[in-house]
Order: sequence, then structure tokens, then C-alpha cells
Amino acid sequence: MADSIFQPLKFRNLTVKNRVFRSNIAGRLDNYDGSGNQARINWEVKFARGGVGAIISSFVPVQIRGRIMPNYATIDRDERIPFWRRVGEAVHAFDCKYILQLSHGGRQRDIPGIEYPMGLSSTSKADPLHGFECQAMTKADIHETVNAFAEGARRARDAGLDGVELHGANGYLITQFLSSAINDRKDEYGGSLENRARFVIEIVKAIRTRVGNDFHLQMKISATEHNNALLFLKFEGAGNTVQDSIQVCKWLIDAGVDSIHVSTGSSFPHPRNPAGTDLPVDVLGGTYEQLVSSGTHTFRNFLFFRGTVTGELFRQQWLSAGPTADQIEGLTLPDSRAIKQAVNVPVLCTGGFQTASVIRAAITRGDCDAVSIARPLVANNDLVNQFAAGKDRADKPCTYCNKCLVHVVEHPIGCYEESRFANRDEMMAQVMSVFAPAPFA
Ligand SMILES: Cc1cc2nc3c(=O)[nH]c(=O)nc-3n(C[C@H](O)[C@H](O)[C@H](O)COP(=O)(O)O)c2cc1C
Ligand code: SF4
Repeated sequence: MADSIFQPLKFRNLTVKNRVFRSNIAGRLDNYDGSGNQARINWEVKFARGGVGAIISSFVPVQIRGRIMPNYATIDRDERIPFWRRVGEAVHAFDCKYILQLSHGGRQRDIPGIEYPMGLSSTSKADPLHGFECQAMTKADIHETVNAFAEGARRARDAGLDGVELHGANGYLITQFLSSAINDRKDEYGGSLENRARFVIEIVKAIRTRVGNDFHLQMKISATEHNNALLFLKFEGAGNTVQDSIQVCKWLIDAGVDSIHVSTGSSFPHPRNPAGTDLPVDVLGGTYEQLVSSGTHTFRNFLFFRGTVTGELFRQQWLSAGPTADQIEGLTLPDSRAIKQAVNVPVLCTGGFQTASVIRAAITRGDCDAVSIARPLVANNDLVNQFAAGKDRADKPCTYCNKCLVHVVEHPIGCYEESRFANRDEMMAQVMSVFAPAPFA
């Protein structure tokens, strides 16, 4: 029988050669001003060469105000189009598709604003995890941002890319509108589920008006938000349930969305996304310095990241709010299954996948149509080629240690789990390999 992993996946406007997508992985690879760099092309080519059917880009801001960190290439102006064309062409050379993630951080940022003092959001409440202050968007802000998403889609299409994904997951701006735990507006963009979904539905309609019906458009959604997973967030609501998200997905599809990408968690990071066997708080103390020195939770974050005892308590709390190690692979499949049963478009699922037999079984059972993989592909860029050669799992799999995650705010993206390498020099050579060929000046 044909291997379900290597069956092409047909969307309304796009066909992908197999069922493994590279999931979004942010990394500070570009220039400070948001122009792109060769390092990003080198990074994306690693995965295209390694056999994935499609790459879903990292967080690409549609507006400067939507940035969460510097050094992420933006799509906020037409001058960015030639760079994204180069990225697409480099990936296409390996028969791999490229889907750009249209993003806006809203109140959730990793480094507080340089070009603007405050994030814009559905609410004026500071993000409880990071603690950076924000302002509720006016209707004029909303209309401007809806238009920015549509312009981003138009630029992605002009760049010859294969589609766009709305970053509607993990606590960023679209989630801030969708979430019953975050959105506290009293106007037509808050309150009922229908009102909270208005912002993203307007974005979808604006995109369809701008690019037409024949360009691939998908939505990444936190199907279950688990907003109060952490002890210090217990006073907040749990946020949207999978039943809420099923209704939102139906509205999105009616408005013109071609596929749903199922994630989880009302923030990024979240104990369930990316779910880990560890949270290296000692590294966070250095790389997440901004959370200690800025925002509204400086003392708390000082204790979390700098205190030996309090840091360990935070780490334990984080790990106990997430799944056990044996439940990480495929942890979002129950939500994916529920959504797939309710909709008539292909469903992608993210979360821990790195074993061919697990992926194959999920597709065959009908829990999802394809999987998206982030960390296990950082660890083994050629995982799909290994599956094609008959391997069920890489010899040195991803340990879900989350060291790549905690390094990403300050250091080049790569695998930082030294136990997977002969020594530290070999590990650092892998991390630095993203800079060859050399970034352009
Ligand atoms: C370092 C890092 C950066 C990430 N950046 C993004 C991002 O830019 N956009 C996004 O939607 N998800 C992002 N994610 C989440 C992943 O795409 C993925 O959904 C999540 O890590 C679970 O999949 P995994 O277990 O295969 O890593 C990131 C994850 C990691 C570890
Ligand atoms: S650092 Fe390496 S092993 Fe650890 S989670 Fe990231 S990719 Fe996996």
C-alpha cells in the first residue's frame, strides 16, 4: 500500500508533494530594519533540501507595529517583495512550496518597542506573561491593520510564493481578538464569539478581495487556548475551547480560508506549545533579559529567571502545566480530529511529530491531512528524506529540551542540545552553518 506520508496533498489552490510541512520557526536571521538577508535563505533551503513538501515561514510582520523582535524580515512594504521572491525561488529549486505567515504581534512581543513605545491589541491589559504594556486598537487602527494583512498577502503573491498563512494562534494579535480570556472590548469586535471573530473574518475577506480566490490562504489557530494553565494565570479565564474554534473555522472557511493549521495555547511560549521535557530557565535569565528589565512584571520575572530557588519553582510549574514526555508527540491531535470532523478543507496539525509511524497513523486515522514540524526538523533537517529511506525515527531525535526556544531571542536559531553532537564545537558549527553562504551586506 502507498505510504500516506508521501501522497500529495491537494488544497483548493495548491498541491504539496507530501504530508510533512516545515512548521514556522522564528529566528533573528535578517537585518535590524526588517529587510531580508541571505541567512534566511540558507535557513529555509536546509529544510527544502531535507525533503519537506512545503515550508511555512516564520512570523513575518505585516506592519512595523506588529514586530515582536528586530531581525525578522517583514512584508510591510513593496520594497520587500524582491527578497521574498529570492526566498521562494531558492526553495522551489527543491520542489518545495513556500507559504508565508502573515503576522502581527499585538501586545505580545519578546523585546519591547524601539520604533513604537506600545503594542496595539484588542485590549489595554498588558500581556500577563511578558508584561509589556499595550493600547486597545481604535476602529481606525483595526481598519489600517486589516488592510496591512491584505497588502501582505498581495505582496506574497507578487513575490511568486505559494500561499499565505494567517498567524491566528499562540497569543498574537488575531488570538488577542478571538480569545474570550483576552478580548475585553465593548464594541462590535468584543463580547460574543461572532464579535471576537469579526477582526479575522474582515482580514480574510480583505485578502480575498485583494488577491482573488485562486491563491492559497490558511489559518493557524490555537484550537484550545489553555489560557490559565500556569498558576499565576489561574485568575484568568481558560479562553476558547475547541468547540469555539470549530465555529470560528467554519466562518473562516465560508469567508475564503482553504486550510486550518491546528496549534494550541493562548501565548507564546506556552507550557503546551512548544511542549518540552525542560524549560532551561538558566539560559532564559540571559536571553530574556528584556522581561526582567522592562514591562509591568519586572520583579516577578526577576524571581522567575534570576532566582535559584524561584527559578526552579517556575520551571517546575511550567513543566507540570504541560504534557508528560511521552505525550508530547501529537499532543494536538484530539483538537485536530475534532476540527477535521467538522470542516471540509485539509487540516494540518503541529506538535511534537518526529516518528514516521505516528505521522502515518494520524493521517490514516483521519486525525489530520498532514503534519507540520518545527523542533524535530531543527534537530534533523533531513528527517523527511530519512523517512523516505525507511527510517521510522532519526538516530539522534529531538529531545524536546527547548534549548532552541530559549536561545532564539538572542542567539542564532539552531539545535543547542549538546548531547546530540560529538562536542560543543560540532554543535556550534551546526548553529553557525546558517551564515554560509555569507549574508549579503
Ligand atoms: C524556536 C521556535 C520558533 C517558533 N516560531 C514560530 C513562529 O514564528 N510562528 C509560529 O506560528 N510558530 C512558531 N513556533 C511554533 C512551531 O511552529 C510549532 O508549531 C511548535 O513548536 C510545535 O511543533 P514542534 O513540536 O514540531 O516544535 C516556533 C517554535 C520554536 C521552537
Ligand atoms: S535544542 Fe535541539 S533537541 Fe532541543 S528541542 Fe531544540 S531542536 Fe530539539
